[in-house]
Amino acid sequence: MRLLICGDVVGRAGRKVVCDRLPRLRESLDLDFVVVNGENAAGGFGITPKICAQFFEAGADVITTGNHVWDQKEIVPYFGKEPRILRPDNYPEGTPGKGVGIFEARDGRRVLVLHYMALLFMTPLDDPFAGIERVLTRTRMGRDVDAAILDFHGEATSEKMAMGHMLDGRVSLVVGTHSHVPTADAQVLPHGTGYITDLGMCGDYDSVIGMKKEASIERFRKKVPGPRLEAAAGDATLCAVYVETDDATGLARRIAPVRLGGRLAPTMPEVERVSAEA
Ligand SMILES: [Fe+2]
Ligand SMILES: [Fe+2]
Repeated sequence: MRLLICGDVVGRAGRKVVCDRLPRLRESLDLDFVVVNGENAAGGFGITPKICAQFFEAGADVITTGNHVWDQKEIVPYFGKEPRILRPDNYPEGTPGKGVGIFEARDGRRVLVLHYMALLFMTPLDDPFAGIERVLTRTRMGRDVDAAILDFHGEATSEKMAMGHMLDGRVSLVVGTHSHVPTADAQVLPHGTGYITDLGMCGDYDSVIGMKKEASIERFRKKVPGPRLEAAAGDATLCAVYVETDDATGLARRIAPVRLGGRLAPTMPEVERVSAEA
């Protein structure tokens, strides 16, 4: 299976690069399944139902979020209607929506998507390590699903790496999100799980993690509340990883970064088309 996971989309610039590029990426990389992290898509803060519809239209199969999930109030009831959007699963019992789902890839194969928030320097939620263990005792790759992807939304590189190794050999892919800066450590771990500590954002990199730099600098320099943070509006870079899984085991055979547009050096994996669809 061929998977693409796009990092946190930030503001209008991020939405534009994703909506412009994703339909062609689905074709050129012959993708079976696409996840987009949309937690900052609405001006840097949260996501709206209208933006979700644009991402689905552009080719996202599932939208993940993070600590900014509730920033736009109108998204709360949407979680009751749209199963293809996930919030971190380790929010307390009774929180709207879900953080785990089984979805269909292009040809009907089943993909488990897990979305959890890390704990270090983040909102204190339930233990993500224990939560994921519980899910994986019920749902096993190779038996119940054909691929499994974790979007682990967190600040600390160590926590994300520990999670990757805990799940090595049991899921197809572990990606970190939230830091908005892509890491250069994309690799297939020793037991076959694709891993990257952070995907980076889909946003304008002439910024402070996607927000206009002047206001952000002010906030760091002055210890009084500064100007409102706004999403940077220059050309955005789409940051993602491309993963090929083994059809028999669900494990990753290959992982490669994708960067397109904007200021970061571009990179795009070479792929051979396998599907019959042109
Ligand atoms: Fe984010
Ligand atoms: Fe976040």
